[in-house]
Amino acid sequence: MGGCSLEGTKANWPRGILQARCGIIVRSALFLELRCEALKIMAQSSAGSRLIPLNMRFAIFGDIHANLEALEAVLADARSFDVTHFACLGDVVGYNANPSECVELVRQLGCPVVKGNHDEQASEDTDLSTFNSLAAKAIQWTRDNLSEVDKQWLRDLKFSRIVRDFTVTHATLDTPAAWGYVLSALEAAASFNYQNTQVCFYGHTHVPVGYVKNGVMVEEIDASHVAIETGKKYFLNVGSVGQPRDGDPRASYAIYSPSEKVVVWRRVEYPIERVQQKIRDAGLPERLALRLGMGK
Ligand SMILES: [Fe+2]
Repeated sequence: MGGCSLEGTKANWPRGILQARCGIIVRSALFLELRCEALKIMAQSSAGSRLIPLNMRFAIFGDIHANLEALEAVLADARSFDVTHFACLGDVVGYNANPSECVELVRQLGCPVVKGNHDEQASEDTDLSTFNSLAAKAIQWTRDNLSEVDKQWLRDLKFSRIVRDFTVTHATLDTPAAWGYVLSALEAAASFNYQNTQVCFYGHTHVPVGYVKNGVMVEEIDASHVAIETGKKYFLNVGSVGQPRDGDPRASYAIYSPSEKVVVWRRVEYPIERVQQKIRDAGLPERLALRLGMGK
């Protein structure tokens, strides 16, 4: 950490096993290392980024899918890292058994929220005959268990928003209302064409991943941590709170520090069996309970 004067700083970032860009494997206090690098980058960046309060730290979360236990666990984890703000990427409802409770909890946060495709389906009266029977049953159950106030709140959500120095969207930036999936660098490139901030967070696929644009090149990056570098753009999927699909059943979200220019993905355990029992008690399809345990 030559030249770094951050020894002793109470960074309070999550710990784990990461590789900082200086090439040193850090197994403890690793975020101090990453933060040090980020501060160097910040010092080189434009004056505009210095307008962001130094203590501002966002929890970016989405695809909650009516999983109250997972949402509560994520919010508790975020607060343990001194998160000061929240932003929600949509799909607050659908699949699991606590849609109204999750709408209420997210609404209480008073944070920016964008609309997901399940929020749209659950709050409209559209015909469900084109859905398979399991999906139609789950959507109808969600509609039946949301109040008109909940539905109006979901209907009023925007497809994408700019928050401070970053953008949030549920699916894509090029055609957000079409609910396309970004699963490759090519698909990310289409969104980068419409990205007017350096960083954009998205969800929808339920798989944490990141894409970075450097000039005309778009590359996939690991969804563990990233130090935001001047001159590059980032399109980052924070994974799913309430129905992860990357084989890891733990809830997924990310913490972003605009001043430190660092994004860190987090995985959080929650009582899955309790959520599975609620699904069964509600009469929702058994497959929805089983997939939670597999993270698929
Ligand atoms: Fe979703």
